[in-house]
Amino acid sequence: MSSVNPSKVDATPSSRSAVSERGVGAASTNRPFVVATFAITADGKVTTKNFGPVDFTSREDKLHLFRQRASADAVLIGHTSLERDNVRLGLPADLQELRSKRGQSRSPIRVIISNKGRIDERLKIFQSDISPIIVFSTKRMPQKNRKALQTKATLHLTDAKHVDLAVMLKTLRNQYKVGTLACEGGPTLFRALLEEDLIDQLNLTIAPHMFGGATAPTLTGLNNKFLPASVQCSLINMRTIENECFLIYRIKHQRGRRK
Ligand SMILES: NC(=O)c1ccc[n+]([C@@H]2O[C@H](COP(=O)([O-])OP(=O)(O)OC[C@H]3O[C@@H](n4cnc5c(N)ncnc54)[C@H](OP(=O)(O)O)[C@@H]3O)[C@@H](O)[C@H]2O)c1
Repeated sequence: MSSVNPSKVDATPSSRSAVSERGVGAASTNRPFVVATFAITADGKVTTKNFGPVDFTSREDKLHLFRQRASADAVLIGHTSLERDNVRLGLPADLQELRSKRGQSRSPIRVIISNKGRIDERLKIFQSDISPIIVFSTKRMPQKNRKALQTKATLHLTDAKHVDLAVMLKTLRNQYKVGTLACEGGPTLFRALLEEDLIDQLNLTIAPHMFGGATAPTLTGLNNKFLPASVQCSLINMRTIENECFLIYRIKHQRGRRK
């Protein structure tokens, strides 16, 4: 990015949510408005060398992630991030309260995606009943996993070898009334959504670290191929808090239209 319009730069801490940043048009297509939230290092990495839980950002960034989650109807996570970070995808009490006041459920629906379906029911997410859990996977899911998961989650298993992301989003919109979907990664899932032009907004925190490492994933993962088409973003908000920079990009859709 060569320059930033100063009128768009907001250097003061703000609690603006993804909802307030959202453009018109979410209701005009047959899928939710998809907002991805990531933190990267100054050299563009999303995780440490051991692919450990994301712990290189400040408390403010963690609050930022919670606020994005709180503003959505559902939160989506890829199987690897779920396993590695072992997250419940819950919210602090004050944000649950705020959702209640807005007439929403106290916590967003939690959505997991996996092609293979080898999802361990002992993960923390399945030990918490704060909101429904929906799993999109394939009939490759082993019977033992199906049996263990079906009492804890709603399973959508396709006959195809891979989950169709556009169909998944359509199902979330039509069957679960999801207007805004918060995608919390990881990079493999984000790239797959980008390739199909299914991301509307990217919230990006740049953290004051550098990890290096050719085998450390960037925002679009470890895939060394170019994206099918370069993705254009427009910066709609930027703020800095101490050493971190919080950016909000609107993703420009190919041919100018949301699918
Ligand atoms: N810095 C950040 O903000 C941030 C955010 C999130 C995650 N992370 C880090 O990223 C790392 C994991 O990243 P990752 O790229 O390996 O994992 P990921 O995107 O979380 O998960 C990849 C897995 O999710 C499933 N999946 C992804 N795309 C799919 C699609 N289109 N259709 C069906 N299933 C799909 C597949 O599961 P199956 O293999 O089960 O088929 C795939 O192997 C972790 O270290 C995590 O801490 C960082």
